[in-house]
Amino acid sequence: MFDTIPFQYTDDTLACEDVRLDELAATYGTPLFVTSSRSLVESYTAFELAFAGLPHFTCYSVKANFNLNVIRILGELGCGCDVNSGGELFRALKAGIKPEKIVFAGVGKKPEEIASALEAGVLLMKVESVSELHAIDRIAGELGMVAPVAVRINPNVTAETHPYITTGDSKEKFGIDEAELEEVFGLLGKLKNVTLKGLDMHIGSQIFDPDFYVEASVKLLDIFNSAKELGFCVDYLDIGGGFPVTYDPSKPATPIGQFAEKLIPILAPTGAKIIFEPGRYLVANASVLLTRILYRKRNHTGKEFFVVDAAMTELIRPALYHSHHEILSVVRHDSTIKADVVGPVCESSDFFARHREIDAAGEGELLAVLSAGAYGAVMSSNYNGRLRPAEVLVSGSEAKLVRKRETLEQLIQNEVF
Ligand code: LLP
Repeated sequence: MFDTIPFQYTDDTLACEDVRLDELAATYGTPLFVTSSRSLVESYTAFELAFAGLPHFTCYSVKANFNLNVIRILGELGCGCDVNSGGELFRALKAGIKPEKIVFAGVGKKPEEIASALEAGVLLMKVESVSELHAIDRIAGELGMVAPVAVRINPNVTAETHPYITTGDSKEKFGIDEAELEEVFGLLGKLKNVTLKGLDMHIGSQIFDPDFYVEASVKLLDIFNSAKELGFCVDYLDIGGGFPVTYDPSKPATPIGQFAEKLIPILAPTGAKIIFEPGRYLVANASVLLTRILYRKRNHTGKEFFVVDAAMTELIRPALYHSHHEILSVVRHDSTIKADVVGPVCESSDFFARHREIDAAGEGELLAVLSAGAYGAVMSSNYNGRLRPAEVLVSGSEAKLVRKRETLEQLIQNEVF
């Protein structure tokens, strides 16, 4: 079990901070996301401590978990936000984040999204293509303003992680390729309604080796120096997110301090304000997905299944990336069995674990799927007519419902029939 997470057994029953998970399941039903506010505070504090030696600004990447309460807790600690759409911008503002603490990214921003972000007064509009630069210039002109932009570069660094979450490689759609930078800087010198404020990168997610950041940062700094030589005054260098967390205790994540140790000496001499965009690091281990065992079954080969009431519709990570999530029985058992933990959705990829040694819990008992705070609820869907689950936030001995379970009526509310 991870020591840093506030999900621990008390009297053989798993609790979130001081609240027993079986009580939460009885009150709010399952499947249920349970988030520890203490964990959010601890992760943010650890991140800030690691980078304390560097003038920086942390923008929580809202895409990891966009619950308003999660954003608000991090915002109250001083965090800004990285948003990727008009919807995420709306959420960040609703949660009380000041626009001047928001950076707006995304490879395909629609004109209305660009307009609403500029009108709101975001700190930086990321630019991911020459065409988008023209679009931002035109829209800013129509609004009678000058847009503060940051050019997202594609450093062509292939970070070692799951191929679906590597983003700084030339094969990928993200950022502006080195070959196009001359044109971009030329345009930035000419266009009247944009001003270059920052340079940006994001090389991927769940990256264990700090050297990938070093390699990409060195490239970013080269471009920073060229921009200065061209007469641009670049205030911000945005290093992106991607800092890893431990999902599997046998594969512990590189401590954040090791990233800071390598990055601070490279970034500090620039004199620029450094932006980080951690998502997963701040929220992944703050939540569990609580689910009830509906049925246990065993086939003729002796294979055991735990059929639970949560599915890939609530946590798609195992299906999509084959990612590992620890699974604990809420009430501890003395014996274990090897089983697949599967959901009710009609897809063979609807599993949380395969051939996993797991507590021999019985039908009707509860399991907790750990590390479900990042890219869990935000990636949920209604596939198979499933209702998005409820979410509860725990602080000490208090539990608060922060998202109601969807209803059948909500399932059809937008259909014209
Ligand atoms: N900044 C940008 C521009 C991003 O695209 C992302 C994530 C982040 C920051 C935050 O990355 P993080 O610190 O959370 O690694 N659904 C996948 C992860 C997709 C990440 C997308 N971009 C998963 O469940 O692993």
